Amino acid sequence: MSTASDVGKAQSSKLAGRALFERIGKPTKIVAPMVDQSELAWRILSRRYGATLAYTPMLHAKLFATSEKYRRDMWSDLDGDESIDRPLVVQFCANDPEYLLKAAQLVENKCDAVDLNLGCPQGIAKKGHYGSFLMEEWDLVANLINTLHTKLAVPVTAKIRIFPDREKTLAYAKMVLDAGAQFLTVHGRLREQKGQQTGLADWATIKYLRDNLPSDTVFFANGNILYPEDIPRCMTELGCDAVMSAEGNLYNPGVFNIEHIGDKEKTFPRVDKVLREYFEIVKQHNCSVASRTAMKNHFFKILRPFLPNHVDIRSQLAQLSPKHPFEEWENVVAAVEQAVLDIFAQPDIATKDVITTHAPQAWGGAYKTVPYWRCQPYFRPVNGVTADKRVAQQFADKDDVDIPSCTPSAVKRDADQDLESDKRKELRKEPAST
Ligand SMILES: Cc1cc2nc3c(=O)[nH]c(=O)nc-3n(C[C@H](O)[C@H](O)[C@H](O)COP(=O)(O)O)c2cc1C
Repeated sequence: MSTASDVGKAQSSKLAGRALFERIGKPTKIVAPMVDQSELAWRILSRRYGATLAYTPMLHAKLFATSEKYRRDMWSDLDGDESIDRPLVVQFCANDPEYLLKAAQLVENKCDAVDLNLGCPQGIAKKGHYGSFLMEEWDLVANLINTLHTKLAVPVTAKIRIFPDREKTLAYAKMVLDAGAQFLTVHGRLREQKGQQTGLADWATIKYLRDNLPSDTVFFANGNILYPEDIPRCMTELGCDAVMSAEGNLYNPGVFNIEHIGDKEKTFPRVDKVLREYFEIVKQHNCSVASRTAMKNHFFKILRPFLPNHVDIRSQLAQLSPKHPFEEWENVVAAVEQAVLDIFAQPDIATKDVITTHAPQAWGGAYKTVPYWRCQPYFRPVNGVTADKRVAQQFADKDDVDIPSCTPSAVKRDADQDLESDKRKELRKEPAST
């Protein structure tokens, strides 16, 4: 438990928002917190492809503070290591300031800030009373943030969703900042926007917040990033300090390589190359239980466009579990490498290995066709119709409506944002979506 002198120490050595932002290198491309997915190995890989800040998966504060096994499963000696895993923000969900503080103190020497998850919309968060289910409990939210602000050695940050009412969202964001949050991430969706209702993130509301919060607020926008081009577009249209991506990054780590737009090897890397690189990172950092556990899910996501064309490899991968030795995973990686080698041995490969950008859309960006052997965003079908088609229809239906320039780009994750069930599906024999 903190003493008065701890509090003094915490206050004197901590950097406020903008100074902190500058000290960690003014990152503009952020790996989102993702349960079971933004773990050590994935963060290392994502940084190689251009990410400049990463968040850990959400950790359950009470479990982290009280269960050694949970800590062992979720956190390794290499997490937050200065030489391989920084800058890093560790995210917790919590509803009890004391447990939150205890948990955060266990990692305060291994990260640049601790984030409070105020956005999780899943049933498990409702049951556990955390995430977006604290959106009505402003006193509790303020207490959680302020406890870390006054007692933790590193700064506290927060990630929120929006309310249907803009003014209420603005008041909420101000409260979060006044309580001590040094960075604010806004995921521009309502709490109800999950599963089949996920839909578009609301860039107009994100921009409204940006424009109406104090100008020195360190402000991150989250939602609707499909392609590298969407990142600078988001920054320009919303005036945010940085852009956070979750699913865009998961299916294509090259999404962050905005300095190399036009270089398909960097922005739409080949699945065999990403898979090999990721697998080598997991092997090299084998002490991370979380990375080992997340491996199957990452394999399926990296290979998402590829596996329907190579069902034999899909079946091979489906048999594996985190308990299988690396040699068996190696067989899958090698099979993918051989298959892509065969693809590139075709005499007409130069005409096939082409990325086509289609006409600009009403939402401001443009869809692309990417060969299936390259990483790319995934459009999850809902009732047999993919999100790009639905968004096109949505705008066609609204031809008479004035579309603001910051209308959000297409949504890529529609059917299933339930992280727990997503994970379970993919860890079973095969992902339901394949
Ligand atoms: C697999 C997965 C896991 C997620 N886990 C978390 C989490 O642990 N904490 C959190 O605040 N948000 C979590 N989210 C939400 C994302 O951080 C992000 O806010 C959301 O997906 C919208 O961003 P996107 O449009 O780039 O996907 C998760 C999303 C996905 C797809």
